[in-house]
Amino acid sequence: MTLERVRSDFPALVPRAGRPAPVYLDSACMSLVPRPVLDAMEEYYRDFPGCAGRSLHRFSEEVGRRYEASRAAFARFLGRSDPAGVVFVRNATEAINLVANGLDWKAGDRVLVTDREHNSNLVVWQRLAAERGVRLSTLPLPDDGSFDVEALERELAAGVRLVSFFHTSNLDGRTLPVREITERAHAHGALVMFDGCQAAPHVPVDLDRWGVDFYAVSAHKMLGPTGTGVLAAAPAPLAGLRPLLLGGETVEWSTLTGHALRPPPHRFEAGLQNYAGVIGAHAALDYLARVGLDAVEARQRSLNARVTQALAGEPRLHVLGPDAVKDRSSIFAFTLDGVDPHDTAVFLDEGYDVMVRSGMHCVHSFYERRGLPGNVRASFYFYNDLRDADALVRGISELLERTGGGASGTSAASSASGRRRARARPRAAGSRATAARSARPRRRAERGRAGSARGSG
Ligand code: ALA
Repeated sequence: MTLERVRSDFPALVPRAGRPAPVYLDSACMSLVPRPVLDAMEEYYRDFPGCAGRSLHRFSEEVGRRYEASRAAFARFLGRSDPAGVVFVRNATEAINLVANGLDWKAGDRVLVTDREHNSNLVVWQRLAAERGVRLSTLPLPDDGSFDVEALERELAAGVRLVSFFHTSNLDGRTLPVREITERAHAHGALVMFDGCQAAPHVPVDLDRWGVDFYAVSAHKMLGPTGTGVLAAAPAPLAGLRPLLLGGETVEWSTLTGHALRPPPHRFEAGLQNYAGVIGAHAALDYLARVGLDAVEARQRSLNARVTQALAGEPRLHVLGPDAVKDRSSIFAFTLDGVDPHDTAVFLDEGYDVMVRSGMHCVHSFYERRGLPGNVRASFYFYNDLRDADALVRGISELLERTGGGASGTSAASSASGRRRARARPRAAGSRATAARSARPRRRAERGRAGSARGSG
C-alpha cells in the first residue's frame, strides 16, 4: 500500500477547519483508526446489533460468529495455536489485573518487575504485597538499553513466582529479549507475563514458540477502538486463573446454591461484551496485515532516524534510552535543557500542529527516582510521513532557538510559545497560552508530590 493511500484511510489525518493535516506523533498512547475499522463497528450496530451466545435469531448468530472470528484472528496474530487462550478484556491493564487477581497467591510468593514499568504493571503488585503478603522485587535495567541476564538469573535463583515485564518500553522504546527471559524464568519454575502494548503493533509476536504464559495487549494502540484488549494465555496457566467477574456467559449452569463455570475463555468474559469493539479490533488486525509489520517497522525506524540525525548537534536536547535508533522502536523521547516538557508539547501543538505526549507516561517511579519532571515523547507509526518528522524537527529547533540563553528556560519557553501561538492562531492561541501559564504552578506543585500532573499518567 502506498503511503498516500494509507493516509487517505485515516479520517483524523484530513485537514479541517482551515488547519493543515495534524502531525500525529502520539501513537504510543493511542493509534489512529482507519476507515475499515470504523466501518466494521458501524456495520455491527447497523446490520446485526445482537448479543452473542444468547438468542437464536440471525443477529445474534452473526455477532457470535464475528466475535469468535476476531478471537481466532488475535490467536493467529499473537502466535497462539488455540483461540481458547484469547480472552477479550477492556485493555492491557485489565488483562494484567486479571492475572494478578486470578493467581492463587501464597504469602511470600515473589513477583519480579523491571524498574521502569507502566503503572498498570506496578501498582497492582504493590496492592497484592500490602494485602496478600506477596513480595515485589524490581530488576534494574541499564540506561543504555542492554539487558543484564546475570542480574535476572540472580533474581530467579532467589525464587520468583511470576516475572511480569514490558515487552517494549513505552518510555524509550527498548525491547526486551522475551524468549530468553521466558526460557530462563521457566527453568526456575516461574510463570511469565509480558505487557505487549508497545510491541504487538510493531513487531511479529509468536507466543507459543516463545513459551510465554500471559501476554497483554490493547487494541487502541494497534488501529483498534478504545476499550478493547486481549489477554493471550497458554492453556494451563489460564485454566488456573480465578475470574475477576462472574455473571452471564461465565457459567454452564447455576442453581440457587451453586454454579459450574464454563471453560476458558468464556468464564473470563462476564456480561454483554464490547461486540463492536471486538469486531473493530479484528478489522484493525486485517488492516495491519495488509500493510505488513515489516513495512511498519521500516517506516517508523526511518522517521525516528531522520529526527535523531537532524537534531544530533543540539547540545540542549537529550534523547532517552538506547543510542541506536534501531533499539528505540517507534519512540523518540527527549528533554530540552531549560524547557518544561508540557510547554514543549503545547508549543509544538499550537505552532506546528505536532501532537506529542509530555509528562511521566504513567511511569512515575522512573522520574521520581531521578528527580525529573518528565519528558516529551514523540511516537511514530506507519501512517506518518517525512513532513511529520520534519515538522517535529522544525518545532524543536525553533523552540531551542527562542529559549537559548534566556535567564530561565521555562519562562522563556512559555513566552516564546505564547508569542508563536499568538502569531499563528490568535484566538485559540490566547486561551491555550493563558491556560498553559496558569496551569504551571499547579503542575509544579503536583510534580513535587511525584506527579499526577496533566499528561503524566
Ligand atoms: N501507556 C500509554 C502511553 O505510554 C498510555 O502513552
